[in-house]
Amino acid sequence: MNNTLTLCGSLSRYPVSLGAKMHTAAYAALGLPWLYMPFAMRSEDLGAALVGMRALGIRGLGVSMPFKIEVLPLLDRIDGAAARIGAVNTIVNEAGTLTGFNTDADGAARALEETLGELSGKRCLVLGAGGAGRAVAFGLKDRGAQVTLANRTGSKAEALAAEVGGSALDWSLAVARPGDFDVLVNATSAEMARDTEASHCPVEAAALRSGQVVMDIVYKPIHTLLLQRATSAGAICIHGGRMLLHQAARQLELYTGLPAPLSVMARALEDALA
Ligand code: ATR
Repeated sequence: MNNTLTLCGSLSRYPVSLGAKMHTAAYAALGLPWLYMPFAMRSEDLGAALVGMRALGIRGLGVSMPFKIEVLPLLDRIDGAAARIGAVNTIVNEAGTLTGFNTDADGAARALEETLGELSGKRCLVLGAGGAGRAVAFGLKDRGAQVTLANRTGSKAEALAAEVGGSALDWSLAVARPGDFDVLVNATSAEMARDTEASHCPVEAAALRSGQVVMDIVYKPIHTLLLQRATSAGAICIHGGRMLLHQAARQLELYTGLPAPLSVMARALEDALA
């Protein structure tokens, strides 16, 4: 690694800053003369942005929706896990060759592993079969977990279960009996709108079990209604910031080839979320 300035960043529809906070803190901790620039742009400019990435030698870019899917046909290579998930959240530029990775799946698995240890054989119930649910389901399955999927629109859970090699459970049964599982992951966007009238948490505290692990991938708010209920039921809680942190840590490892300074990145994220 030399001392020339290296640029990384992110492509999103709207300005975002959490990635910049974590990556910038990591560069400082690692003593790297690197910069991280979040770019907000339109879908129609995605192709041009990638041409720019090659021309300018931008080392890595994180991408958020809808670019995670739109970018697929524009890349030179797609990592195996990202290809199976059908979404890319990280682009690495290796001498002009752009490879797409998915660190969301790995981030979800790591966030669980740091609390639970090995995921192999663990019975995991994933609520949600949208983009986030897909990444979580593949991430857990890749670690050998037994994945059960439930989704408000049941046909989507069945289709994803068939793809992942897991099983599907009826939504109303799943939200009534999450205590039957070692791990419950909320990968729906249901609580995103928690502050509005229409919002709700589908899982009651009485349905949760002491000692089981409950992870919510929602990080705004950080203490979601689900996690509040899980805490009152005596469950072990993992908030959405941990998945966010670990997906960024994996990105940093792909860009730099160095182990991520996790505690530094976690502090930067906590400050940003506070
Ligand atoms: P994301 O990329 O965040 O996963 P998405 O692909 O739009 O976003 O998926 C949103 C997920 O949250 C879906 O699983 C959706 O369920 P449906 O497929 O039935 O729409 C789920 N979801 C959103 N609002 C919900 C609610 N109020 N109750 C239950 N599930 C909800």
